[in-house]
Amino acid sequence: MLIFNNQADLKHHLKSVNQAKTTIGFVPTMGALHEGHLSLISKSLTENTLTVVSIFVNPTQFNNAEDLEKYPRTMEVDTAKIEQVSDAVIIFAPSVEDIYQGNTVSEHFDYDGLENQMEGAHRPGHFDGVGTIVKRLFEIINPTNAYFGEKDFQQLQIVKKMVEKHHLPVNVIGRPILRESSGLAMSSRNERLSPEARTEAALIFKIMTEAREQFKTHTPAEVIQYVITAFEKAPNFKLEYFEIANESTLLPATFKEENKKYRAFIAIFINNVRLIDTISLN
Ligand code: PAJ
Repeated sequence: MLIFNNQADLKHHLKSVNQAKTTIGFVPTMGALHEGHLSLISKSLTENTLTVVSIFVNPTQFNNAEDLEKYPRTMEVDTAKIEQVSDAVIIFAPSVEDIYQGNTVSEHFDYDGLENQMEGAHRPGHFDGVGTIVKRLFEIINPTNAYFGEKDFQQLQIVKKMVEKHHLPVNVIGRPILRESSGLAMSSRNERLSPEARTEAALIFKIMTEAREQFKTHTPAEVIQYVITAFEKAPNFKLEYFEIANESTLLPATFKEENKKYRAFIAIFINNVRLIDTISLN
């Protein structure tokens, strides 16, 4: 297993192997890996001759200093998990200094309004930070294909938009959400839940599934009210937002239009841990 801790060494290595037939698959992560991350890595391994996984807790995308500080850093366990999938993966785990060179400031991005909804509205600067790091990593690695989870559906759409607007030569590939057997979407943040809270958090997917059922016969406003009421009855939860949006524009759906795809999005606190989830509605 090859591990590079700075961009110069990684670039040098990639240059030495980069021949005409090489395709590079890239999976960007912030570590604390789980099956969801590993599913992206497996997919990349089947579709590319080379797979690079980055592990980098990106400071510019955290709008909350405590969240950044508490973000789990489990490099050794992560390396072992990747090795179990394949020892042919190249790990890129740079330092903040190597990436930002003393200037941890985001570039500003215009994603045609995608950034003004949901996570963008509730986490100011978050998607500038994501765009900054993903663009830098793309420039360092020069991947053929890059793999992102639908768990962060808005991030996936934003990265696609950035690639389109900046004419970056990479295919952005979205992959389905992996869930625990309870239905809870896998997330590095689940590790911060107590065992009781983790069990209780299954309610999120249960309500999302009910919302999908309701959406067949109710208006978006009625479904939203249904979800708000359901979480009001669950005292350990604090709902930040529940939205029904057009899948491509991410704009809130006021009514259902024929031939449009809709998706529900949620951000919710359980015992001070913020979780997000999303589900396709039609
Ligand atoms: P991170 O939260 O570590 O997620 C890395 C990738 O794994 C993202 O594309 C995310 O959508 C995907 N992922 C997370 N949970 C998943 C699940 N349950 N099923 C499938 N895929 C899942 O997202 C980031 O890091 C960062 O913003 C990053 C893109 C690395 C930029 O810093």
